[in-house]
Amino acid sequence: MTRTPPTPPTPPDGPSQERPEAPRDLVGIGIGPSNLSLAALAHPLTGLDAVFYEQRPGFDWHPGLLIDGTTLQVPFLADLVTLADPTSPWSFLNYLKARGRLYPFYFAERFRIHRAEYAAYCRWVGDSLPALRFGHQVDAVRWNPERDLFEVDFTQLDTDGEAEALGRTYTRNIALGVGTAPHVPEPMRPLVDAPAVPVIHAADYLDHRERLLKAEHVTVIGSGQSGAEVFLDLLRHRPAGREKLHWLSRTQAFAPMEYSKLGLEHFTPDYTRYFHALPEPERDRLVPAQWQLHKGIDADTIAAIHDELYRRTLHGGWPDAVLTPGVLVRTAGRIATTRIELHLEHVQQASRSRLTTDAVVLATGYRERPLGALLAGLDPYMRRDSSARPRIDEHHRLVLDPAVTGAVHVQNGESHTHGVGAPDLGLTAWRSASILNSLTDNDPYPLPSRTAFTTFGLTQQPRIPSARQSRMLTPLID
Ligand SMILES: Cc1cc2nc3c(=O)[nH]c(=O)nc-3n(C[C@H](O)[C@H](O)[C@H](O)COP(=O)(O)OP(=O)(O)OC[C@H]3O[C@@H](n4cnc5c(N)ncnc54)[C@H](O)[C@@H]3O)c2cc1C
Ligand SMILES: NC(=O)c1ccc[n+]([C@@H]2O[C@H](COP(=O)([O-])OP(=O)(O)OC[C@H]3O[C@@H](n4cnc5c(N)ncnc54)[C@H](OP(=O)(O)O)[C@@H]3O)[C@@H](O)[C@H]2O)c1
Repeated sequence: MTRTPPTPPTPPDGPSQERPEAPRDLVGIGIGPSNLSLAALAHPLTGLDAVFYEQRPGFDWHPGLLIDGTTLQVPFLADLVTLADPTSPWSFLNYLKARGRLYPFYFAERFRIHRAEYAAYCRWVGDSLPALRFGHQVDAVRWNPERDLFEVDFTQLDTDGEAEALGRTYTRNIALGVGTAPHVPEPMRPLVDAPAVPVIHAADYLDHRERLLKAEHVTVIGSGQSGAEVFLDLLRHRPAGREKLHWLSRTQAFAPMEYSKLGLEHFTPDYTRYFHALPEPERDRLVPAQWQLHKGIDADTIAAIHDELYRRTLHGGWPDAVLTPGVLVRTAGRIATTRIELHLEHVQQASRSRLTTDAVVLATGYRERPLGALLAGLDPYMRRDSSARPRIDEHHRLVLDPAVTGAVHVQNGESHTHGVGAPDLGLTAWRSASILNSLTDNDPYPLPSRTAFTTFGLTQQPRIPSARQSRMLTPLID
């Protein structure tokens, strides 16, 4: 498989050009940043016949949380391709060039771009790559031992999300990129669908923002980045002295996200390899213990919240906002259909109380999308760990019965085997490149053998073998 020089974007081809019986080399399921990165890096590989399916009508990236002014938590170099191939035409810088925005961006001196800008960049890539099929929901994946191929069943959806047609594709390999789904804690589940009282997940915040700004009292639950951004936006736009906001979280503190230079080395391929080689109980202990690497709040957002609270004291009083960490929502119920009562517990204090509120925003995080129904057809071939989770090898492949000759690659569903970096945009291009290297035989994307100053562990993990990897950093001068 060879890489052709960068070509300008080509328009997508239509479904009429598809030959449904002809097997593909690769089918991607889901088009978020993970599989969009894979599609962008696969695009110049002549001879790799790939197609990617996404259930949404077009590319969208967490639209309900694109709050004005919010930024990525990683530098723009963590775009879809640059960390694997800075010469790719699908880089963020090339997007800026295509949009005539390079000079303003240069003078802005911004390393962390607006989330809205990242979403627009991804849409530009998504609108241009010919291998993407939006409005296609993948329903089932099976292994066909007679043809030595995977069968992928999908439903074609119209723009309202209604089923239009059924289809099937055959493929030698699969890349799962189905991402995460909003998590609603058990006690809140009966309340989320009641239209009279807004109890919404933060993922839908912008759809309900006007209603939340008008509500008498609002409670935000959860103190990750989503909770902090929602609380800050509500605080900024509710009247001074009558904010009437509660911000509660089970986390023990409104804690900053770890962002030190060496701390960030947990998001390198070196750490991922180290983590993957640890025993399963040790991996399971580590991920929750590393919560400040993935669950804290960006220090600038904490500062902005404090600034806004302080500004609101200048008229003399304290803002009418209660910020309490360490609080668990035990149960919740509706009062007279228009209000909500939350039953709270403070774990350290061993105290309990009740809070009546008019609207709740659940910034309670996300969970990896369950794969059970989608992969039921692969069940007899799948190898599982002691907690019944799929085993995933270091090349991000499901460990399957050797009778299955194809590979199922997992993108952002491998925290249990690859650690905290699985959802991180900074590892996306590297993971896509390693998948393409393992699918092809001539390493189209040579990757560095070392990526961190820290040496993780006393015994070295085997580096990804590659003929063209250099073991040393190239000296600046001879
Ligand atoms: C608000 C927010 C901001 C974030 N910001 C950052 C950040 O700044 N930096 C960072 O490193 N990480 C960030 N993250 C982490 C997050 O993991 C990544 O941003 C990113 O979305 C992961 O991309 P993905 O493609 O793996 O998954 P997703 O973005 O979840 O995309 C998965 C896609 O698969 C589709 N899909 C699912 N099932 C099917 C099916 N059966 N058939 C067809 N399509 C299907 C879904 O519709 C979806 O479009 C953020 C997360 C959130 C929630
Ligand atoms: N600007 C950005 O780039 C941006 C914006 C938003 C999100 N993100 C990223 O997206 C990912 C998800 O972030 P997130 O903030 O949505 O989720 P998160 O980081 O998982 O935080 C969820 C919060 O909800 C709390 N919680 C969960 N269940 C609860 C319950 N029953 N009662 C009370 N509190 C409960 C959690 O407490 P516990 O700690 O006890 O579990 C935690 O404080 C993170 O990696 C984040 O960095 C990035």
